[in-house]
Amino acid sequence: MGFDFDEATRRQLGYELIDLINSYYSSLPTRPVQLPAEQRTFGQLTERMPDEGADPVAVLDEVTSDLVDKGFHVPSAQYFGLMNPTPTYVSVLAEALVAALNPQLATQARSQLASKIENETVQWIGDRVGWSSDFGGTFTSGGNEANFSALALALNWKFPGIVEEGVAATKVRPVFYSSAESHHSLDKSAGLLGIGRRAARRIAVTERVQMDLAALEKQIAADKAAGLHPFAVVATAGTTNSGAIDELVAIAEICRRYQLWFHVDGAYGAAAIFSDQHRGLVRGIERADSITIDPHKWLAMPFAAGLILTVHPELLETTFGTHTPYMPKVAGSTMIDNFKVSTQWSRRMNSLKVYLTLRVHGRKAYEELIDRQLALAARFAARVGKSAEFELAAPQVLPILNLRVKLLHASEEEVEAAHLKIVDAVTRSGERWISLTKVNGRSVLRMMVISYLTTEKHLDELWAALSAATAEVLPKAASVR
Ligand SMILES: Cc1ncc(COP(=O)(O)O)c(C=O)c1O
Repeated sequence: MGFDFDEATRRQLGYELIDLINSYYSSLPTRPVQLPAEQRTFGQLTERMPDEGADPVAVLDEVTSDLVDKGFHVPSAQYFGLMNPTPTYVSVLAEALVAALNPQLATQARSQLASKIENETVQWIGDRVGWSSDFGGTFTSGGNEANFSALALALNWKFPGIVEEGVAATKVRPVFYSSAESHHSLDKSAGLLGIGRRAARRIAVTERVQMDLAALEKQIAADKAAGLHPFAVVATAGTTNSGAIDELVAIAEICRRYQLWFHVDGAYGAAAIFSDQHRGLVRGIERADSITIDPHKWLAMPFAAGLILTVHPELLETTFGTHTPYMPKVAGSTMIDNFKVSTQWSRRMNSLKVYLTLRVHGRKAYEELIDRQLALAARFAARVGKSAEFELAAPQVLPILNLRVKLLHASEEEVEAAHLKIVDAVTRSGERWISLTKVNGRSVLRMMVISYLTTEKHLDELWAALSAATAEVLPKAASVR
């Protein structure tokens, strides 16, 4: 069978799929996140690669119903998950359109309007940062690539020549700083950039889970005295575990004083710039040299959509630019081809879903989402504050909550074991999903409001599930301190 379907088959397959997606979306407010524990299977699929094709309607039907019936549903309103949202419906349609048109975003010559849309979307988001001078940026596959790009920019800024000659030739030992709660993509980047993972200096956090700035300055001084070469500080705006936001204004000031690049990893939390009411949460972000922001987190986009923004647009080209005879140039264009400002070469149009969502719903829809989720999380935090069973293990800043059980005379190991059992009890039916992590070395239950479909009712049900779990799991006499 060739790949070219006739018109009737194309329409039939398309309508079937859109019907399925439509009923999936209708189910999301009440859809369990996954199957009950006893029905989950994690074995490998063992089918062999088919030599011959089969009826497309039957194949599509089988695979999609398997994915829906047996899948893990991040878009469910009851996924109190990690930072992965329910995608806007418009973004789902945009993804199909991008796949169909398949613009090659590496060069404008093969993506004229698509490149302009991408550029405009970068500008719209960058404008919300409030930078007073020119900026540039590009879409990435997510926060990992954006953080990697930021560190590459910072190295090139601090050690000109490093891109051509490499770290060894510059005879420096670069180090950079981030909090102990910053994302581990920074370790990956340090290894891949050739400065070594030990160059990623992790600074202790305070009670509020923010980078301890006295400890930061002490470490900078110690590193300089030891002949190392500090080049950047990465502040986190919305840590993965707690949603803590480092003190951006103060860190900007430290960076200015020591002549260090100031990167804000706002993969999740930088989206607060979309809310007039809450943008103050990330005050100081406008002093950043570069910013990571992932629309596939708080801006309700499907994977993949990340962004690196920088107030040093010229460095994008000196860091990532290269020449090749086979890439056609567009005469008279003032825009730089994407392959010259990005770690990627051939690339997908990750911007259309953001652009279309903004065109259809407007910036204020994001503002409403952010304000509402913050209010929901604050009410949940207040409830925890009054609870006999739980306490907040970290301040609620963004819509992320860290809870600990109140256990009489319990060791850390006992608390962690109780948390494990609580997560198991809450997630066993598959209805809803929360997780377990450690913050500042202590075990916590982690939950967040990430779906735009999550309402007060879902949080009431989550609370009831948590209470039932503690009643089931904890010995009566031990449950209250
Ligand atoms: C603060 C932070 N930075 C970076 C990342 C990496 O982002 P991505 O998974 O999109 O590569 C994450 C992922 O959760 C994150 O929470």
